[in-house]
Amino acid sequence: RIVYVNGEFLPEDAACLSVFDRGVLFADAVYEVTAVVDGGMVDFEAHQQRLCRSLAELGIDFDLRAAGLLELHRELIRRNALNEGLVYLQVSRGVADRSFLQPTTCQPSVVLFTQAQSLLETAATGTGLRVITQPDLRWHRRDIKTTQLLYPSMMKTLAVEQGADDVWMVEGGTVTEGSSSNAHIIRADGALVTRPTSPDILHGITRAAVLDYSRETGAAVIERPFTVAEAQQAREAFITSATAFVTPVVAVDGVAIGDGRPGPATHRIRSHYIQRSR
Ligand code: PDD
Repeated sequence: RIVYVNGEFLPEDAACLSVFDRGVLFADAVYEVTAVVDGGMVDFEAHQQRLCRSLAELGIDFDLRAAGLLELHRELIRRNALNEGLVYLQVSRGVADRSFLQPTTCQPSVVLFTQAQSLLETAATGTGLRVITQPDLRWHRRDIKTTQLLYPSMMKTLAVEQGADDVWMVEGGTVTEGSSSNAHIIRADGALVTRPTSPDILHGITRAAVLDYSRETGAAVIERPFTVAEAQQAREAFITSATAFVTPVVAVDGVAIGDGRPGPATHRIRSHYIQRSR
């Protein structure tokens, strides 16, 4: 693979990042994952805007326009002949002697790589995901897309160890998110219920596209937190993310959702999302 690090395209074995990079030492870094379908990117502009917001929230001084990220993404896709998968972009505060005091004079580090991955045809689309719930012990600024991913990574691993596919994290009795996705349910009356954007969750790009589409089709969209019990009584449930697109959830803590199989509304939303992304 060819990767991009601080101005250079290099074979992955030749690329290096300082051990003093604040991304390495403090997770003082933000990232974006953009899907690639048929060699083209899905919602690049929205990812760029969210990156801009994440950088501003952490006070990382990085000139997005000057960085020419669109061209860098396209060039990396081209060099790796990527047809389907993702581009990962990370911007850290930069390199400095280890100190809890954030330096004001460092040069942000920029890393991009591609990962080939099937997104359109996945086993989970057919079978649906089984999730277990776990307390959400992440920090309270989940709206900033930082690289502090230890807890969700531990929870994903725990879920798989327990024979499930993923977690839905719970705080104050309601579901926040999946380990790397937004969580949604469709009630018996057809209404889509999803947690509103706030510092509790990442403001998903896929989530926003799905809500727009649902509203366009005349479906009721209710943005409020929902409980685990409500999810278990829902007609359908699904997650959204740049790489999962729209993936059905068929069980929560061992309780089947609906008839325990991916539902028609989820299927319709996924099909539409894929269609608009190509
Ligand atoms: N994760 N919530 C969390 C905690 C996430 O990590 C993600 C995405 C989402 C969905 O956001 P979007 O629709 O913009 O991808 C929600 C990416 C895919 C990842 O970390 O790989």
